[in-house]
Amino acid sequence: MLREGCWMLLLVVGVCHLAQDVGGEVNVTMVGDSEVYMGDSAEIRCQYKFLQNASMVMVQWFVRDHRGSRVRISYSDLTMQKVDENTNYTERISVAGDSGGENLTIVDVKLSDEREFFCQVDGLAAGSNEGKFHLRVFDPPEPPVIEAVRHGVSVTSVSPSKVATCETTKGFPQPNITWYRNHKPLHRRQGQVNLITLVSKDSTGLYTVQSELQYKVTREDKDAHFFCEVSYFVPGAVRTVESKSVNISVHYPTTKIEMWRELPEGLVKEGDTVEIRCHGDGNPPPAITFSREQETDLDADDNVLVLKDVTRRDSGIYHCHSLDLDSRSADNNEVMEFLQLTVHYLDPAVVVPRDSEVMLKGENLSASCNALSSLETNTVWFKNGVEIKKGNVLNLQDATFDTAGHYNCEVTVPSIPGLHTSGSVHIIVQGAPQLRDAKREMDVIEKVGKWVNLTCDVRGHPRPIVTWSAPSITGWREVVRRETEDFVQSIVTMKITRDTDVVAVCNATNKLGADTKTYTIRSIPIVTPAARNTADNSGVIIVVIIISILLVAILGSVLYFLYKKGKLPCGRSGKQEIINPFSTKEKTNKDDIVVEMKADKTEKSVLLKGVNGDKKPPSDQ
Ligand SMILES: *[C@@H]1O[C@H](CO)[C@@H](O)[C@H](O)[C@H]1NC(C)=O
Ligand SMILES: *[C@@H]1O[C@H](CO)[C@@H](O)[C@H](O)[C@H]1NC(C)=O
Ligand SMILES: *[C@@H]1O[C@H](CO)[C@@H](O)[C@H](O)[C@H]1NC(C)=O
Ligand SMILES: *[C@@H]1O[C@H](CO)[C@@H](O)[C@H](O)[C@H]1NC(C)=O
Ligand SMILES: *[C@@H]1O[C@H](CO)[C@@H](O)[C@H](O)[C@H]1NC(C)=O
Ligand SMILES: *[C@@H]1O[C@H](CO)[C@@H](O)[C@H](O)[C@H]1NC(C)=O
Ligand SMILES: *[C@@H]1O[C@H](CO)[C@@H](O)[C@H](O)[C@H]1NC(C)=O
Ligand SMILES: *[C@@H]1O[C@H](CO)[C@@H](O)[C@H](O)[C@H]1NC(C)=O
Ligand SMILES: *[C@@H]1O[C@H](CO)[C@@H](O)[C@H](O)[C@H]1NC(C)=O
Repeated sequence: MLREGCWMLLLVVGVCHLAQDVGGEVNVTMVGDSEVYMGDSAEIRCQYKFLQNASMVMVQWFVRDHRGSRVRISYSDLTMQKVDENTNYTERISVAGDSGGENLTIVDVKLSDEREFFCQVDGLAAGSNEGKFHLRVFDPPEPPVIEAVRHGVSVTSVSPSKVATCETTKGFPQPNITWYRNHKPLHRRQGQVNLITLVSKDSTGLYTVQSELQYKVTREDKDAHFFCEVSYFVPGAVRTVESKSVNISVHYPTTKIEMWRELPEGLVKEGDTVEIRCHGDGNPPPAITFSREQETDLDADDNVLVLKDVTRRDSGIYHCHSLDLDSRSADNNEVMEFLQLTVHYLDPAVVVPRDSEVMLKGENLSASCNALSSLETNTVWFKNGVEIKKGNVLNLQDATFDTAGHYNCEVTVPSIPGLHTSGSVHIIVQGAPQLRDAKREMDVIEKVGKWVNLTCDVRGHPRPIVTWSAPSITGWREVVRRETEDFVQSIVTMKITRDTDVVAVCNATNKLGADTKTYTIRSIPIVTPAARNTADNSGVIIVVIIISILLVAILGSVLYFLYKKGKLPCGRSGKQEIINPFSTKEKTNKDDIVVEMKADKTEKSVLLKGVNGDKKPPSDQ
């Protein structure tokens, strides 16, 4: 420019060389805000320094128009400072000068202000020169917007497929977009990564950058996330903004099927509901069909095969097949898996002998209980709810009537708690009648007029016939008869009528024999005080006298008795109550059965009762 100016001066004045040679020299430097945000203000200072004193200095500011020619925007000299009219800067600039230079201030910086500003200083004889200042304008773009493709991206496609697009708008200068996969930048790579960038500029000069990522997906990309990053210049720095992450739905063929039993847990038994599930590792999940040996296309919903109430016939090998509809490679689209189902069972228990079995007394019997099962079983025998034997064979030896009864066997499968069965056998022991306590002498002592119960318990099979004979007793009858298969209980009640001892016999017979038991009943005679009858038939005076005499006599005897025993007998009658040791079945009635202690004592107690005014005779109720 200096040289240009010189030529001009040479042409006009012809003193260019002279001017330069005589030291006509000015240094122009420009400083200021070289980088500003759009909308902000920028200040540019044009500093000049003359080698020799200049009588006058002109400063002019220029910009270049779109055609490339210069347009002045302001002029100033020692007398004036003026902004040129009708330029694009008329409204937005101001100039202020001082001794060493001039400042140009631009407000509301626009994109078009990104250009060179020229400051031309002319000191006439002192020399002229110009400075140049490049103003840079910045406008940060909008944060990037990413969009992943909505449809699945197949790994089988040969070339990179569109995976996502990223867009950033209204940036200046042009921002860049970088793609990342799992935080690692993606670069263009033949056959793997394609980046298609579209840059556009709107009417205001702001840039919009769109980038499309084309990527050859693999199975692993189902878990990958992608984002784009926009980088842009700001005054004095480079900034970056990341988009949010997106993932893509990757479609890949099934290579493997998983097959498992969902229900039940553990071993399968008959009656269970079995659920078998299949899952192919392809995406989207492949359609699955179930089959079993000859049966194909079993009815399964949602990849679950449900077998209700299974039996051992459902045991077998089940298959799963996947059919990838999407799969473009024809070679590997059928994948298969299989599963072995074993349905365990336990058949009903079979007991030998069946139902019931008759044994003779003293005989041996071996009973067995078996249940067919696919697994190991445990057998336990019970009698009357009590465990008597572990194992499936029960040996009954030397049968007695106690051997008879109901035997149950329980068969369980230890490995499947829910699986069990049971059977039973009824054992009957045949034998001649056998009376309880037949050997024991049964002595019953009771007062005349009282009732006494005699109990006869018999075991025997066939059920014995029980008869009683009591030749010397007339008023007896049976009050209880209990009969079971091999047991008879008979209780007879009889009135003690005579003062003599009687004998009753219980006789039990069946076809195998007979047994008898003898009861001896001893009666206790009643002692009636003679005075009582006399008093009834006499006159009042005589009665009074006799009663008085009697009272004295009784008093005497009582006193004598007390003196002799040292105490009065306790209780109403002085009887000692005991439980009949011979009869376990009959319930002892308080007053009825007594054991004679001493003859005189009984008499005395009876006498005493009468005196005490107990008019109730000791008889039956
Ligand atoms: C102008 O600048 C040159 C080189 O930077 C320097 O040699 C010269 O002295 C300067 N002149 C004035 C008047 O400052
Ligand atoms: C320049 O001007 C100043 C005053 O304006 C004066 O003091 C100085 O001597 C002058 N210098 C030259 C070289 O003329
Ligand atoms: C002023 O602005 C108009 C329209 O924006 C443009 O055509 C013209 O070139 C500009 N002039 C300069 C000097 O920049
Ligand atoms: C011009 O700008 C400089 C630096 O910003 C400042 O020091 C100076 O005072 C300014 N001059 C005027 C006349 O505004
Ligand atoms: C954008 O990319 C270009 C070319 O690689 C580079 O020169 C420029 O500095 C980048 N811009 C930013 C803001 O990173
Ligand atoms: C993206 O990932 C989320 C969480 O990991 C998941 O729920 C979603 O289905 C995925 N989207 C696609 C298209 O794969
Ligand atoms: C019953 O078995 C026992 C023991 O094995 C044996 O001693 C006895 O002779 C057997 N009785 C009969 C009747 O077989
Ligand atoms: C005899 O047995 C019958 C029936 O069990 C009972 O009602 C009665 O009280 C008993 N009599 C005696 C004296 O134990
Ligand atoms: C028992 O009764 C049976 C049949 O009624 C009879 O044959 C037998 O003689 C009786 N035995 C006695 C001891 O009474």
